[in-house]
This record gives sequence, structure tokens and C-alpha cells, in this order.
Amino acid sequence: MQYNTLESIDALRAAAAAEFQAIVGDADAENFRVKYLGKKGVLREIMKTLGNVSPEERKTLGAAANALREEIESRFNDAREQSKGDGGGDPGFDPALPGFPFPSGSLHPLAQIRNHIVEILASMGFSIAYGPEVESDYNNFEALNMPPLHPARDMQDTFYINEKAVLRTHTSPVQIRVMKEQKPPIRAIMPGRVYRNEEVSARSYCMFYQVEGLFVDKNVSFADLKGTLLAFSRRFFDENTKIKIRPSFFPFTEPSVEVDVECFLCKGKGCGICKHSGWLEILGAGMVHPSVLKSGGIDPEIYSGFAFGMGVERIALLKYGIDDIRLFYENDVRFLKQF
Ligand code: PHE
Repeated sequence: MQYNTLESIDALRAAAAAEFQAIVGDADAENFRVKYLGKKGVLREIMKTLGNVSPEERKTLGAAANALREEIESRFNDAREQSKGDGGGDPGFDPALPGFPFPSGSLHPLAQIRNHIVEILASMGFSIAYGPEVESDYNNFEALNMPPLHPARDMQDTFYINEKAVLRTHTSPVQIRVMKEQKPPIRAIMPGRVYRNEEVSARSYCMFYQVEGLFVDKNVSFADLKGTLLAFSRRFFDENTKIKIRPSFFPFTEPSVEVDVECFLCKGKGCGICKHSGWLEILGAGMVHPSVLKSGGIDPEIYSGFAFGMGVERIALLKYGIDDIRLFYENDVRFLKQF
């Protein structure tokens, strides 16, 4: 290209401007600098091509070429300065691009299930109470109608702290604490951790979560228990859920029952989750035994009550179709981030 007219220098200005616009990153910028501003760059070479023009023309063309060189140099240097301020000194840096995603956590699946259980029961008028995880042998067993050497103690493999203290094996001892602190009518739910000295396997763990419920007032009947559990199940699972109540035994309730919900996966038809029975066991319950009311300082001649206890893991395993309880405690992010 011969730069021996003012038009040709204007064309060079346009070409340089287009290339300047297209710069992305340090390598492009350096190529541009060498091409236009370097010692052997186009604008220095121009002077050599001016040999075959008249001295007057050489003067005007030389001045135009120098002006263009200065123009390009100052725009280039300004842009470089500015990109330093943007951070990184990369002329291609675009502050409008989306940032790097910042990983955020979420509630543990057990916390989500527990919160859902607690929210439903709280909306039905139950208030929340807590008790300690290291509990007296008295509250955990004796006050709940299990004196020393009572055979039912064998049902719960207990971690003893010493002769008088245990890691609570269920949330039922909080019933005793609540009854001693409050006057009927009592409507309380008691979520928390419990411990059992069981061999760790896919189906059981040495620690798990329960949510206990207690309702004590005048004339509380089994129908109230049934209605409460049905309403709960319909809110928790789905509005057409059926429940089945089977006779069972707990020393602290009389009569005692276990409650099954219709399998939410197969709707009672039978599937792998419900072991083809159509039903899933979700909790134990019953009418509070008169001697338990007495332990709580409540007169069983005047008051009656119902209680229930459900396992949070059990419900979470069923709800999410998880086949190994240990996954809840390993805190593997690949597992946790699915919830
Ligand atoms: N505490 C019982 C258990 O851990 C559950 C239960 C609670 C049963 C309240 C009846 C009433 O298995």
C-alpha cells in the first residue's frame, strides 16, 4: 500500500480504528501496538514511501502521518490505562459479563422434613418445647412407666452416661418436663435428637431425630388423636391420604397404637417402598397413661391426653426413596445438594 495521498492516510485511520475496536486481550493489544506504533510499524514506514512525491506534498503528508500516529498512540495508551483500573489490565475485560457463581448452601434434608412437620403442627395450635439430650434415667424411663428392670427398657438400647443419666432414647421424656412446667390445656410438640446403641447399618443409626406430640386437657379422647393425625398426614403427604391405626404397645400410653399412612408412591396398590403392603408405618401413639400424667403432676381423674412420636429419618427415607440412612450423616455434598 502506498500512502502518497491524504485519502490513503484517512483510509489507514479507518482501518486502525476498526482493528482497535476489535482488540480482545493482551495478545491482540500487543499485535496492534507493533503494527501501528512499533519502530517498524506502518506509520514509520510511511515516511519511506514519500520519496516519489513533491517536497510540498511530502510536508503535508508527513504532518498528516505524524498526527495520525499521535492520535492512535494516545487512544491506545488511554485504553491501556483505563483497563488497568478495571482490574487485571486486560483491555478485553468486560465488567458487564456475569460473575463467577458463588456456591450457596441449603437446608439439610432432615431439617427440611423436620421444619415441615413442625410448621404443620404449629399451625394446628401446638407450641414447640425442647429438652436436653442427656436426660435423667427417671425422665427417660421411670416417669414414663418403665421402672428399673422393666422389660420394655430392653426395646431401647440405651447409652448410659452413669447410673442416673442416659442419652435420651426418645423425645418422650420432654412430655414429663412440659407437664411439670405447664398447666392444661397443653398442646406441645418436641423435636430433637435421640440416641440408641444399635449397630449402624443401612436401616438404623446410633442417633436420629424424632418429633413428639402431646395434648392434655379435659375430655381429650382417642377421636382427637385420630383426627389430629389424619389432618397432619393429609397436610404432609397429600389431601386424600388414608391412615390405618393398629394396636401396639408402649408402657407410657394406654391404649397404644402404631399409625400407617397409605403409601404415597403407589397409592396403596403395593410397591417396593411399602414392601407391597400399600402402607407405611410412620409413628407410635396412644392415650397418655394415667401414671404418666401423675408423674407430670397432672390429675388423671380430671384430665386425659394423647401423645405421639414420629421418626424424622423414617419419613425422609420414605419421602425421597433413599435406601441407606447413613447418607444423612456423611454430609457428602453430592448427596445433600439434591434436596
Ligand atoms: N417414644 C416412642 C418411641 O420412641 C414413640 C411414642 C411416643 C409412642 C409417644 C407413643 C407415644 O418409639
